[in-house]
Amino acid sequence: MRVLSGIQPTGRPHWGNYFGAIRQYIDLQHGNEAYYFVADLHALTTVRDPERLRQNVIDAALDLLALGLDPEKAVLFRQSDVPEVSELCWLLMTGTPMGLLERCHAYKDKKEKGLTADAGLFTYPVLMSADILAYDADIVPVGADQVQHIEVCRDLAGSFNHVFGETFVLPKARTLDASAKVPGTDGEKMSKSYNNTIELFEEPKAMRKKIMRIATDARPMEEPKEPEGDHLYQLYSLFVDDERREAMAAMYRRGGFGYGDVKKALADAAESFFAQARAKRAELVADMPRVNAILADGAARARKKAAATLLRAQQNCGLK
Ligand code: ADP
Ligand code: TRP
Repeated sequence: MRVLSGIQPTGRPHWGNYFGAIRQYIDLQHGNEAYYFVADLHALTTVRDPERLRQNVIDAALDLLALGLDPEKAVLFRQSDVPEVSELCWLLMTGTPMGLLERCHAYKDKKEKGLTADAGLFTYPVLMSADILAYDADIVPVGADQVQHIEVCRDLAGSFNHVFGETFVLPKARTLDASAKVPGTDGEKMSKSYNNTIELFEEPKAMRKKIMRIATDARPMEEPKEPEGDHLYQLYSLFVDDERREAMAAMYRRGGFGYGDVKKALADAAESFFAQARAKRAELVADMPRVNAILADGAARARKKAAATLLRAQQNCGLK
């Protein structure tokens, strides 16, 4: 199977991003031909500060590599390093009904709020389709919010194939388990928009402070508590093996403990869970030529694949 996904370089990843998305993407590099790119062209629809964009792109690449993306196994590259994708985007655009894009939520939501949208946001799903089709991807792992865009991609690929003959592989979305919602420091879903996140590579001290401030209820210490549904317990469970999780569950059911103890255990578990990735990230930061070489090599491999698809599409529609 050929797997592909794009990661928006819009900020530092938090626990929700890791357990909800990044970890699964990285796991898929095993046993598949995998392509992962940092979607800097898409980020341009929101980030309008050149220095910030450049830094975000590098940060996203560093994060993925530190978390286990193996450049020997998967192809890691910057979206904008493959200009073939933008050319393919135009070919797709000529066959894209306006109505299809008008129904896409990113554009629709903005319009409904009375904000003016630009053509970049409006055609965002077409560029995303080109990203996917350029590499003949079979499987596209994404969050639930992106499934609509994969449907657009299938529509566009299907109608191109219908008009010009077999050209594109129709991809399938692989959605991540929606029930695996990671709670934030207030117990609601962890999200940048709710200001309740804990970042993966936050300084250990700052991370500990945030953990100690996680909201809890005011039940007395001695009262036995049901662990399932308790957000501190849910967070702790992400970082430990079955044995330690069971031990924590038993402590909840027994009662006679303070939430402060759980928070300390959580901070220790999270710190050791990410210790290796943190060290790896520091090592990569100290060797930027290596990181740049990985991205350059990824771009060369990605371009080769995208160029072949683009040529096929150009020939089939009468350009070459
Ligand atoms: P945010 O809500 O912080 O803006 P994004 O929308 O950028 O996060 O999410 C990027 C990816 O991380 C998505 O695939 C999404 O499904 C996943 N994700 C984000 N927050 C969580 C969470 N709290 N639990 C599980 N997955 C999450
Ligand atoms: N739009 C995706 C997001 O916001 C990022 C993305 C761009 C992408 N191109 C892609 C994801 C192609 C999968 C495939 O998360």
